[in-house]
Amino acid sequence: MKYNIPRGTFDILPEDSYKWQFLQDSFRKMATCFGYEEITTPIFEVAELFERSSGESSDVVQKEMYRFQDKKGREFALRPEGTAPVVRSYVENHLDKLSSRTKLFYLGPMFRYDRPQAGRYRQFYQYGIEFIGSNNPYYDAEVIAVAFLWLNKLGLNNLRLEINSVGCPDCSAVYDKALQEYYRPFLPKLCPDCVKRLETNPRRLLDCKVPSCIEFRKNAPSQMDYLDEPCKKHFSAVCDYLQAMNIPYTINPRIVRGLDYYTNTAFEIIYEGLGAQNSLVGGGRYNGLVEQIGGKSIPAIGFAGGFERLLLALEEEKIELIPPSKPDAYLVCVGDNTRLQILPYLNALRTKGLIVDYDPDKSSLKAQLKSAASSGAKYAIIIGENELATKTVNLKNLQTGEQIAIPMDEEYTINKMKN
Ligand code: HAM
Repeated sequence: MKYNIPRGTFDILPEDSYKWQFLQDSFRKMATCFGYEEITTPIFEVAELFERSSGESSDVVQKEMYRFQDKKGREFALRPEGTAPVVRSYVENHLDKLSSRTKLFYLGPMFRYDRPQAGRYRQFYQYGIEFIGSNNPYYDAEVIAVAFLWLNKLGLNNLRLEINSVGCPDCSAVYDKALQEYYRPFLPKLCPDCVKRLETNPRRLLDCKVPSCIEFRKNAPSQMDYLDEPCKKHFSAVCDYLQAMNIPYTINPRIVRGLDYYTNTAFEIIYEGLGAQNSLVGGGRYNGLVEQIGGKSIPAIGFAGGFERLLLALEEEKIELIPPSKPDAYLVCVGDNTRLQILPYLNALRTKGLIVDYDPDKSSLKAQLKSAASSGAKYAIIIGENELATKTVNLKNLQTGEQIAIPMDEEYTINKMKN
C-alpha cells in the first residue's frame, strides 16, 4: 500500500529544512530586538474561540475551518490563525499581571481548508506578533516596522505596504449602512456570496474576487470618508510615525481583511510578482477582541505572515539563505580492529560540536577518501592499525593536501583544525 500526502500540504525535505530554520531564527532575533517574547499555543482550540473572534460569517469560519469532535463530543478546530489563541492564552494566564504592555511573538503551523495553489496551502506556517496593552499609534507603527524591516533585512525590496483604517465600531456601523445603500440597487447582479454578505458583513463585498462584483466596487463609498474624528486622528498619527521611521506606505481604503476582529488600522505588505497570493503579511488593530473573549477592555494590534509566500518571494529575487554547514571532518578508518576502537574518539568529537561524517559501509582507503572529498569536509581524519597502536591520527587538509600526525585526542584535534 502506498500513501500520498494530503492535498494542500507538503513535506519540508532535508534539502530545504535549513531555509525554514534560517527564517525561524532570523524572525526570532528581530522580534526579540523589538522586545517581543515567544509564546507557543496548541494546534487545536475549542471551535467557538474562532467563531467568536474571526466572525461567524467570515470565510475562515464558514468554509475553511478544520472542525472535529473529540471522543466526548466536544467541538474543536485546528487553528486557522494565531491571534485568537494568543489572546485566549493572555486572558487565561493573566499575562497582564507583570506589565500593562504584553509583547508576544509566535511561529507555527495554521490550517485552512483553502483551494490549494501557489502560495495557498491547507497547512501553512505563520510567523507573527501581537502587542496587547495600548492604543498609542506608535505601536501600530512599531508592529508594522517589525514586519517591514525584517522583510527588508532578508533582502526583499519590492515591498508595498498598504494601510487603511476600518474605524471603530461606531463609525464603521455608519460606513456599513452607506455600503448597503450603495450596493442594494445592484443586488440582482451580485454573486450569491455577496448577496449574503450585504446583510451580514457588507465590507466583505469590497474583497470579492468575482469579476462582476469587482466592477461595482469602483464607485463604492470609501471608508476614509466615514471615519470619526478620533479615528481620523489615530490614522494620521500612524502615518506620521511611519514617515518618521522612513517606512514607505500607500493608503488603500479597500483593505478590508478577512477576519472580523479588526478596528482602526488594517494593513498588508504586498510583494508584486507572486500572482494572486501576493500578500506576504496581514494585520491590524483589534481593540475589542480581548474583551470579546473574556478579558478586560484592552487595545491590541498584531500581524502574521506565511513562510511559504515569503520563500517564493525570496526565490523570485534570487536571495540565497545561508545553507547548512558542510562537515568539519570525515573520518577515514582502515582495518577491522580500528572499526570498534575509534568509536569513543568519534563520539567525543561529535559531542564537542564538530560535524563529523563517517560511513562504516565503506572499507577501502580509496573509497573513503573519495567520499571525504565529495562530502565537502575540510579535513579527513585518517586512522589505520599503525595509528591505533601509537594512539595518533593523520589529519589531512582536503583543500591543500597537507597531512600531519597528531595525538588521538578530541581537544587536540579540534584545536589543530581551528588553527
Ligand atoms: P491573514 O491575513 O489571514 O491574517 O493571514 C496572514 C498571512 O498568512 C497572509 O498574509 C499569508 O502570508 C499567510 N496565509 C494566510 N492563509 C494562507 C494559506 N492558506 N496558505 C499560505 N499562507 C497563508 C491572520 O492570520 C491574522 N491572524 C493576522 C493578525 C495578527 N492580525 C492581527 N494580529
